[in-house]
Amino acid sequence: MTATLIDGKAFAAKVRAEVGKHVATLKSEHGIVPGLAVVLVGEDPASQVYVRNKGQQTLEVGMASFEHKLDASTAEADLLALIKTLNADPKVHGILVQLPLPKHLNSDLVINSIDPAKDVDGFHISNVGLLGTGQKSMVPCTPLGCLMMLRDHHGSLAGLEAVVVGRSNIVGKPMAQLLLNDSCTVTIAHSRTKDLGEVCRRADILVAAVGRPEMITGEWVKPGATVIDVGINRIDRDGKTKLVGDVHFESAAKIAGAITPVPGGVGPMTIACLLANTLTACCRANGLPEPKGLTA
Ligand code: GUN
Repeated sequence: MTATLIDGKAFAAKVRAEVGKHVATLKSEHGIVPGLAVVLVGEDPASQVYVRNKGQQTLEVGMASFEHKLDASTAEADLLALIKTLNADPKVHGILVQLPLPKHLNSDLVINSIDPAKDVDGFHISNVGLLGTGQKSMVPCTPLGCLMMLRDHHGSLAGLEAVVVGRSNIVGKPMAQLLLNDSCTVTIAHSRTKDLGEVCRRADILVAAVGRPEMITGEWVKPGATVIDVGINRIDRDGKTKLVGDVHFESAAKIAGAITPVPGGVGPMTIACLLANTLTACCRANGLPEPKGLTA
């Protein structure tokens, strides 16, 4: 391996420590405790793990955590009523509805019922529009985490050629928008892109968010490029379950200049950025200055 390892676990710990410092100041100087409400509908095992981790880390930085676990058969009207209550609750500064929702619930309708100022996922159409027009918004957590690591590694991203593989609303599209806002030349590629390898080889910054295990190999990486692997895929290898990214790490690390591992790369940054967004939402709600370096 020749590439520098970008340590997301260590970076996330730094972000959480920074958030924790601001939370302590909010408490001691203003008597304000930032609060995050997480809503989980149903019993999807992966979602349960995420929600538990979110709750723990929220408390660790000194914030208030409100968990709402609803039955998988919850009626849409009941979920919307809960969100209405949380929107009006002054102790709640951030609201996150864990996705995916059970099929009988309309995710777009549910997400768009969250007060945009409390939408710490940045999925509400108002926040998507604000980000798309370069205005102050809530920024989706995973792309924000990737951006923080890229800015830390490169300093300015201006003029760099960025290729984002994946076009999801959660990662691919907002990631491309953030890179464009930082003056990269951005291409969004996906599973139907022709000559995907050729497109990837153009990238100074290659962000992999397609959800296909080890699809991007070293042959697709420009020498010296920075590779950010958003993928978290469970595969069976030699009779064991293994966690791998969308990038074939061993081959890519021989060619790249810097690379994030899986696990320990982008993953830990997502919750750290959720806490950062909750802090930002709390400061905005109280007319206080936003912490620097924790937003886009
Ligand atoms: N499910 C997987 N990732 C996410 C996320 O970032 N936010 C929410 N709300 N649900 C998710």
